[in-house]
Amino acid sequence: MVEEVASTGHSWDGITEYDNPMPRWWLLTFYATILWGVIYTIFYPAWPLINGATQGLLHTNYRKELAVEMQRYDETNAGIQKKLIETDINLVKDDPELANYAMNAGRAVFATWCAQCHGSGAGGAKGYPNLLDNDWLWGGTLDDIHTTVTHGIRNTDDPDARYSEMPRFGIDGMLDKTQIDQVTQHVLAISGQAHDAAQAAEGATVFAENCVACHGEDGTGDRTQGAPDLTDAVWLYGGDAAAIRQSVNDARFGVMPNWSPRLSEDNIRAVSYYVHSLGGGE
Ligand code: HEC
Ligand code: HEC
Repeated sequence: MVEEVASTGHSWDGITEYDNPMPRWWLLTFYATILWGVIYTIFYPAWPLINGATQGLLHTNYRKELAVEMQRYDETNAGIQKKLIETDINLVKDDPELANYAMNAGRAVFATWCAQCHGSGAGGAKGYPNLLDNDWLWGGTLDDIHTTVTHGIRNTDDPDARYSEMPRFGIDGMLDKTQIDQVTQHVLAISGQAHDAAQAAEGATVFAENCVACHGEDGTGDRTQGAPDLTDAVWLYGGDAAAIRQSVNDARFGVMPNWSPRLSEDNIRAVSYYVHSLGGGE
């Protein structure tokens, strides 16, 4: 038989609530946490005041501790950071200690400042180039990468930013729909994809008249203008007919910030060294 327990008198839809006491272990734990809470606020910063908060008997200040730690790191690294700035970036690899520092610092800078756009593994995404391969828009030597990172690409903040502008052939009415379809078929052809041969042949003429100044006679691109190679399997915005048509119609105008105002020179060098080491460096 079930033992009768007093009811609290609460009743919902005929379901009544028993007035069972809380289990003893639960209550004791509960009181212990309250006690712990009170003791904690006595020893550690806790209660907000008009200016700041109570300091606690232990005078713990994590912000100060962090500042001290950071200063300690800065002091420890000051020498090697200076060396990184003073060494020709192409010679960093010959100094194992410096190379090791550049690699580690560069990896940290990349994770903090570059991964949002280029991906945590630097594999890129649509519109954001893959930095692991040896396919470069603007060049893959250490000096090229250093320039790209320092000044950025097509931003309005840095007069030395890398700059080029593909015309908006469709939007601005420079080519009609038929011509855009034809040149799209030509790009499919030179990149080794399935295409309409008759349209592609017409498109070759459109290409010769409108595209070679940047993408080159053979479509392999031009690094001085950041114009991509259109004959390989690497695409910044996509290599199917729809994506190519959109690139020609709208033009893309990818923008990268300039990092010189945001990162110190040693950090820019470190991240350039890191990117260069990822596999595609020249
Ligand atoms: C806001 C997004 C964004 C961030 C953040 C960003 N990039 Fe970029 N990056 C781009 C875009 C977009 C391009 C390609 C622009 C173009 O079409 O030419 C690019 C291009 C590059 C290139 C040139 C690649 C090539 O093929 O020549 C390098 C190198 C590069 N980024 C390195 C970095 C590094 C290092 C950082 C961090 C310090 C960084 N980027 C942060 C958007 C970004
Ligand atoms: C003034 C230089 C210039 C001219 C002329 C030009 N382009 Fe471009 N093109 C570029 C640049 C720079 C990019 C890089 C995309 C960006 O702006 O971020 C690009 C990108 C592209 C892309 C995207 C490639 C990818 O990897 O996703 C295609 C496709 C393309 N162009 C086709 C053409 C065709 C076809 C023509 C001629 C009708 C043409 N372009 C004319 C400079 C040019």
